[in-house]
Amino acid sequence: KRLIFIGPPGSGKGTQSPIVKDEYCLCHLSTGDMLRAAVASKTPLGLKAKEAMDKGALVTDELVVGIIDEAMNKPKCQKGFILDGFPRTVAQAEKLDEMLKKRGTGIDKVLNFAIDDSVLEERITGRWIHPSSGRSYHTKFAPPKTPGVDDITGEPLIQRKDDNAEVLRSRLAAFHTQTEPVIDYYAKKAVLTNIHAEKPPKEVTSEVQKALS
Ligand code: AP5
Ligand code: ZN
Repeated sequence: KRLIFIGPPGSGKGTQSPIVKDEYCLCHLSTGDMLRAAVASKTPLGLKAKEAMDKGALVTDELVVGIIDEAMNKPKCQKGFILDGFPRTVAQAEKLDEMLKKRGTGIDKVLNFAIDDSVLEERITGRWIHPSSGRSYHTKFAPPKTPGVDDITGEPLIQRKDDNAEVLRSRLAAFHTQTEPVIDYYAKKAVLTNIHAEKPPKEVTSEVQKALS
């Protein structure tokens, strides 16, 4: 399967991706995770991306298109993939169409994690992540067994630099102006399914599974 998960910050894309990935043996390509890894290891790519990410703006289309084009060539992605957080502009969606055409494939399904802005601040400010695996927790909705510690590795959890109320406002603005048109782009191609992303995590998982079965 070749899938796209679209939704605003905190809508649950990163929470649902690992579940779907395991179920269908797909690779999980999160442009946000890949960019954060590049920033942390101070690669040239990371240095270019950092400023935009810190203020909640999108990085350039060229930068993310390059990352995705390279990642899709990996052997583990040949069975299919989940694109989490890409494409986020119509230009990225058009580039993706070209990349897939070149490979003789296309997108099977786009899930739109629809949710009201008003609940996102609580989700974002309560999130704690395990940086090396991308696993995320929430102090209230999905607490780790021991506060501040990853359940599986026992390593410390951290908060993302852009996970505060102020930067969230910019991220939401970017979503509404630049990413919402991408939802219409896929609705016109009749590959879009809406998910009620405000429900509790397990109910969202069931909806996602139903949409993909
Ligand atoms: P990115 O990392 O993609 O951030 P985002 O889109 O803002 O999305 P989030 O990761 O915040 O949300 P999520 O939906 O994954 O939420 P999660 O499941 O963790 O991008 C970061 C930055 O990178 C961008 O701002 C931009 O600068 C750059 N970038 C990335 N891609 C780009 C692109 N294509 N083009 C240009 N720039 C790009 O859930 C959040 C919290 O809620 C967690 O704590 C979780 O436990 C909890 N939770 C999840 N589901 C539920 C539920 N159902 N009920 C209650 N709590 C829940
Ligand atoms: Zn995410």
